[in-house]
Amino acid sequence: MQNTQHQTPVLLEAKNLAKHYPVSQGFFKPKTQAKALDGVSFQLRAGRTLAVVGESGCGKSTLARQITMIETPTGGELWMGGKNIAHADKITLKQVRPLVQMVFQNPYASLNPRKKVGAMLEEPLIINTRLSPSEREDKARAMMTQVGLRPEHYARYPHMFSGGQRQRIAIARALMLDPEVIVADEPVSALDVSIQAQVLNLLMDLQQKNAVAYLFISHNLSVVEHIADDVLVMYLGKTVEHGSKEIIFRQPLHPYTRALLASTPRIDPAQRQSKMMLPGELPSPLAPPPGCAFNNRCPHANERCRRETPSLRDFADRQVACHRVEEII
Ligand SMILES: Nc1ncnc2c1ncn2[C@@H]1O[C@H](COP(=O)(O)OP(=O)(O)OP(=O)(O)O)[C@@H](O)[C@H]1O
Ligand SMILES: [Mg+2]
Repeated sequence: MQNTQHQTPVLLEAKNLAKHYPVSQGFFKPKTQAKALDGVSFQLRAGRTLAVVGESGCGKSTLARQITMIETPTGGELWMGGKNIAHADKITLKQVRPLVQMVFQNPYASLNPRKKVGAMLEEPLIINTRLSPSEREDKARAMMTQVGLRPEHYARYPHMFSGGQRQRIAIARALMLDPEVIVADEPVSALDVSIQAQVLNLLMDLQQKNAVAYLFISHNLSVVEHIADDVLVMYLGKTVEHGSKEIIFRQPLHPYTRALLASTPRIDPAQRQSKMMLPGELPSPLAPPPGCAFNNRCPHANERCRRETPSLRDFADRQVACHRVEEII
């Protein structure tokens, strides 16, 4: 699919990853399955960023919870270090969990208000390493410098910091155990626009230094254009388009990707497209429409699209799941 030259090692691979939640529909009715994540595949490479985009409810955070091993997937495989860890035993999970860390959207909720910054950064080291207290402090202070916090911040509580600084603390904490992968779920969308670029640039600098892989979740395509190497577009738990950022932003092919990009303000006038509205709402994952899940909102949908689910296939240097892509290109 992609240029195979100069590729860095694969740190994590998801194959057909799925999470179906059993949902009760009432006391006497049988349970149905909410297919929040329904067969998504990708690789995360050292020093690279994969952005996952799609509307609210398409399954982005569900994906994050599987990758960080907070939940157990109901289907598919998750490969790390030569092992499929999707259904690993407790001992294996204890070993691999520290390698995947998370940065959450809201730095006001994700930091413990009763802990000082230093203690918060050292906490993962107490649980996962045998470092002495002074070694832990040295490591925490070194990390604070890396993320642009000052030495006197070590003994301060989170409420004394702005949103941007809190997100720096959250990023520092995520990096304390030298993870291979960081999953960032909308990490800048709760911040002032003026601060967003600083935090994004920090994430990019840290990636240069640490060769960490990012799975970066965002509904903001301007942010994605800034930070991503590759893009995966999700719709109702499935991948509709996946490829390099350059290719997808230059020529989005799936009608859903086109609609998303058309509703994003673009700096480059040559890239501006005639505005295409996205009519209707995302269907419920409890009752997806038959055929292509996007058919009820797609301007190109025909009879086949309403009947047959398109598979994800290689086309024009990316993967795309659309029956009609050859005709609408
Ligand atoms: N524990 C659960 N039980 C049942 N359904 C769930 C559960 N968790 C998520 N869902 C459903 O799965 C779908 C995907 O949810 P998810 O939170 O992953 O979306 P998202 O893409 O992160 O949305 P947002 O952009 O709003 O954060 C939604 O329809 C949601 O209602
Ligand atoms: Mg979410």
